This record gives sequence, C-alpha cells and structure tokens, in this order.
Amino acid sequence: MFNKRTKIKALLSHGVVDQEVVVMGWVRTFRNNQFIALNDGSTSQNIQVVVPLGSVDEALLKRITTGASLRIEGKLVASLGKGQSVEVLANLIEILGDSDAEKFPLQPKKHSLEFLREIAHLRFRTQTFGAVFRIRHALAFAVHQFFNERGFVYLHTPIITASDAEGAGEMFRVTTLPMDGSAPRNEDGSIDYKEDFFGKSTNLTVSGQLEGELGAMAFSEIYTFGPTFRAENSNTTRHLAEFWMIEPEMAFCDLEDNMNLAEAFVKHLIGYAMEHCADDLAWLDTRLAEEEKQKPQQERQEMGLVEKLKFVLDNDFERITYTDAINILLQSPAYKKKKFQYEVAWGIDLQSEHERYLVEKHFKKPVIVTNYPAKIKAFYMRMDDGCEPGKETVAAMDILAPGIGEIVGGSQREERLERLEARMEEFGIPVEEMSWYLDTRRFGTVPHAGFGLGFERMVQFVTGMGNIRDVIPFARTPKNCEF
Ligand code: 4AD
Ligand code: MG
Repeated sequence: MFNKRTKIKALLSHGVVDQEVVVMGWVRTFRNNQFIALNDGSTSQNIQVVVPLGSVDEALLKRITTGASLRIEGKLVASLGKGQSVEVLANLIEILGDSDAEKFPLQPKKHSLEFLREIAHLRFRTQTFGAVFRIRHALAFAVHQFFNERGFVYLHTPIITASDAEGAGEMFRVTTLPMDGSAPRNEDGSIDYKEDFFGKSTNLTVSGQLEGELGAMAFSEIYTFGPTFRAENSNTTRHLAEFWMIEPEMAFCDLEDNMNLAEAFVKHLIGYAMEHCADDLAWLDTRLAEEEKQKPQQERQEMGLVEKLKFVLDNDFERITYTDAINILLQSPAYKKKKFQYEVAWGIDLQSEHERYLVEKHFKKPVIVTNYPAKIKAFYMRMDDGCEPGKETVAAMDILAPGIGEIVGGSQREERLERLEARMEEFGIPVEEMSWYLDTRRFGTVPHAGFGLGFERMVQFVTGMGNIRDVIPFARTPKNCEF
C-alpha cells in the first residue's frame, strides 16, 4: 500500500501533471462538499483534493471531517484556484480512519499555544507545530553533519551516572530500592546504597562532559548529543527538566578556538535551517509578526524572524570579558535609573535581566562573555593566569542570544593536575571517587576545551517560539509529566 503513495511535498514540488497519483493524509478542512485540504506532515502546505460534484455518495461525504485520515486515488492536474499550482482530482476516496467532528479537539481555527500544550499529542497536526518539529529535525541532522564534516567522533556518554558533572547537585536519583521506608539502612540511619542496583548512589546525567573529556583524550575531537536531566525547580520559558544537549570536546584547543567553533556551529545550524526549511520559517515568521502586533510598541522585537536569522549569520558575535560586561552594566542608563531588580557588582552571577540588556539593548547581537569569576563557575574550568588576588577568573565562555539568553556554556578545562585537585577540594568534590577523571591529567594531559549547546534553546532561537515547552514534543517541567 505505502510504496504506491506519493508524499504531498513531492507532489507540490515536482509532481507531473496529468499523472495518476495516490495520496494519503489527514483532512485539515473540507469546504463546500468539494475541496479537501489534505496534509501528510511532509510539508506545511496542504494539497487540495477536488471531489467532483455528485461523484461520491452522501454517506461518504459526511465522513470527510477535520482530522479524518484518507487514501485518495486521482489525477494530478494544474489548479485553477488561488494558492496552489497543482491539485488532485479525486476518483476514489477511501476513509482510513474517521474523526468525530464534534469530539476532535483541533478545530480548523486558531488555537492558543497554551491550549495546544494540553493536547500535545495532537498538536503536531497544526501548521505551527508541524513547522517547529520539522525544523527541530533539520537542526538535529545539521548537528551531525557539522561535526562529521570536521572529523569529530560521536560519543554516546551514559545516561545513568554516579557523578555530578556540574557540581550543582540538581539531580534525579535512579534507584530500585523500595520507597515505602523498608530500604536497607546504615548504622547512622541513612540509606545504604551498597544494597541498591548499582551498589552505589546513582542519578540521571546533567551533562556528558566529563565522559566526553575522556574520549577527547584519545580521539582528539568528540561530541555528544543526548538527553540530559536537571531537577532545578525553575518554571521559566527557558528551562526543562529533560532537555537535549550537544557537547563537543576538543584536545589541543584553547578558549579562543572553542569560541570560534561555537560561533561557527551556531551559524551552521541557522544556515542549514534557512536553506532547507524556508517554507516552515516563512510560516513561523508570519506567525511571530502577528504575535508581536499584540504587544505594546516598546516590547516588540526590532526584526522579523528570518531577518534576525540572516543578521546573526552575517555578523560576528561580540566578544567581551565578564569584567567588561559588569562595567557596561554599571555605566548603563538602566542601572542608573535603578531598572535592574538584581544588584550589579563584580562577582555576581549575571541574571537574565543583565544578559538581556547586554544582548538586546547594548550590542543588539549575540555576545560571548568570557573569563567569569572562578567562584561562580564549575570546578573543571581552567584558572586564568596572573589574576589580581580576590579577582580570580576562569577561562569560561557563555554565548548569549537575543530573546533567549544563555544558549551555549563552555570553557577551557583545567589540565594541570594539582590545580584541578585543589579546585575539587575547594568545591567539596570527592577526589577519590573521581580518580578516573583525574587519570586524563595524570597520563598525557593536554590543553583542551569544549562547550554545551542547549538544543531546545537553539530550536527556540531558530523558530522564534517564546516558550521552551513548545519546541520539544513532550515537555518535562516541575509538576508536569504528561504523555
Ligand atoms: O551551562 P551548562 O550548565 O553547561 C554544561 O552543562 C557544561 N557541562 C557544558 C560543557 O562545557 N560541555 O549547560 C549548557 C547549556 C546552556 O547554555 C543552556 O543552553 C542549556 O545547556 N541548558 C538548558 N536548557 C534547557 N533547560 C535547562 N534546564 C537547561 N540548563 C542548561
Ligand atoms: Mg551555564
């Protein structure tokens, strides 16, 4: 059955007129008992199927409802109507699956994104989510293309780990011990994880970086692309409890090389989407423009979606140190007029309002902030040489994107064993348990660097979707694990 059908995308782009075709898909709308808009997900565009008047019996016509699935045999003909060059003149219509028009939640009208989130199992069938998830797919493909072309090895790092890569402690526990209070205990009353499945306490990974570093010390250049998990209780439009991250790790590489790669990578992804998803981007561009019109003038974005992507592609990212960033903030009208909610001083972790000011108001383009205070960054980042006492910094870099904030976080790693051990002690990280990680520094250590790109934030940036829940098929957020 399936090898005989032609996908709608193919019919619309290079279908041969006057040929017999078979199409299958779901009904978007059915007008005047005559015109079916049929979609099969291969493109945002529907194909128009024309039902010759009187050719189909009443009972069957009634079953052609929004959401129903059809198989149609007919002839591809040039279209006289507006909006399409070809259409299918049906001579056989088969209902594959009915869809009760009264009950089908996706009516042919505009639904709010919030409502569609509640019916995420059906939202793929809308124009907007069709576009978002085709673009998500294209970006995932472009990730592999980018690294494959550059000779990076795709390394599958574990999902279940016994270490806390970011040292942030926001992890989901993995256990098979009973939850009813009968779990085995140590003498001091704490749970005895030696009795657990892995014989130790384990969690879902927050990052594949530490294992990635092990790979880079053999293959020179690796990348990971997989799900990561963070039990942070952040209910924002930028945070998920389960998100996908891409983490390249490069031996013989410093902070500058790392930034160059990250910038090229982000641009590659944007360029790929623009080249291969032009239709879907055009749809999302229009959608966003309409959404922007609802906002007060001063909150509107200056550029349309495609215009913004092109701008980012054509311009260098701004590169500044954390110290420069703090100085810009301290000199800003926003600071002087006390517009920031959080304090600004050397040593603070940049808040979202600060990042947005730098990117959206001051530079108006993506910004790479480097050399953050050592105290606010992870233990594995390389200490900068020659710092003023009390103002120690590390070779970190974050890429901040307009409308998103932090999209990439990375650093050059501390490759000097003694320095790294000292940092681990400072952070209270058990050096004994991490012996495997320290071996890379004991046996043939080299300068190396890497970064993590939050895949959903990247999809948000490319699609212009305001809420991260709308760029992953089924979002996991605090108090929400539907589907
Ligand atoms: O800055 P982060 O925490 O860095 C790391 O995990 C490093 N191990 C990466 C590395 O150097 N290999 O996270 C990296 C990126 C962030 O910049 C952000 O884009 C994304 O991951 N991210 C999240 N995305 C969605 N939901 C969350 N809760 C996220 N937390 C981080
Ligand atoms: Mg970060």
